Amino acid sequence: MPEITNIVILTGAGISAESGLATFRGPDGLWEGHRVEDVATPEAFARDPSLVQAFYDARRARLKSAEPNAAHRALARLDAEWPGELLIVTQNVDDLHERAGARRMLHMHGELKSAWCLGCDARMRWEGDLGDHPACPECGAAGRLRPDIVWFGEMPYEMERIDGALMQSDLFVSIGTSGAVYPAAGFVQTARHYGARTLEMNLDPSLGSYHFHESRIGRAGELVPMWVEEVLGSS
Ligand code: APR
Repeated sequence: MPEITNIVILTGAGISAESGLATFRGPDGLWEGHRVEDVATPEAFARDPSLVQAFYDARRARLKSAEPNAAHRALARLDAEWPGELLIVTQNVDDLHERAGARRMLHMHGELKSAWCLGCDARMRWEGDLGDHPACPECGAAGRLRPDIVWFGEMPYEMERIDGALMQSDLFVSIGTSGAVYPAAGFVQTARHYGARTLEMNLDPSLGSYHFHESRIGRAGELVPMWVEEVLGSS
């Protein structure tokens, strides 16, 4: 295996499935119960803010009873022990990576536990509901807080930082994502273009499986701790 120094890890809903959080496109997936265009677009929020707030309030409340699983803990261990560059880019809006101890990470699709005031543009940590029109702690405006979630049609966060990390990466690892949504689904091609080795770990082959040098099929809770042992053993 060529020298690995810089690692980029992309995670999706599949890494939180064993923590009891629903994925989007599997059986019982979130998009089975809701239409994306009804709950995850700016137009939906303009049309029916209460429905959208209720969808995210329920997911935020659900987080309280979810715990990080072995895959989150293994990535946090790798983050703590890896001597080279490492960046966890999660598409997930849950806080399970942080609660497992991950530090070198970012949420490209926003976070359930962040609110965004459309009155003063401030973003703030938020634990409770937004459906009851709370006032913005920064500017006092009532009913102007929206979930700080990147909806379809909106620009994901920190794309420059992500592209920079991909261009420098020696190893790109994708965990628990279906490869259905861009730009995340295209990261493997960028990483390969700049010479990185690429590995996918997923319950089923993702839509982009053929782009990966290696694809391991199985549960993240089993595959990720084994892979972290391997990588730390080789460092
Ligand atoms: N271990 C590993 N992979 C799993 C597990 C598991 N225990 N359970 C499910 N998976 C895999 C599924 O096989 C699927 O390929 O996780 C993937 C989940 O895919 P999606 O539900 O499409 O979730 P994700 O890829 O994160 O969606 C990307 O789409 O709806 C938007 O913004 C939303 O961030 C989300 C984005």
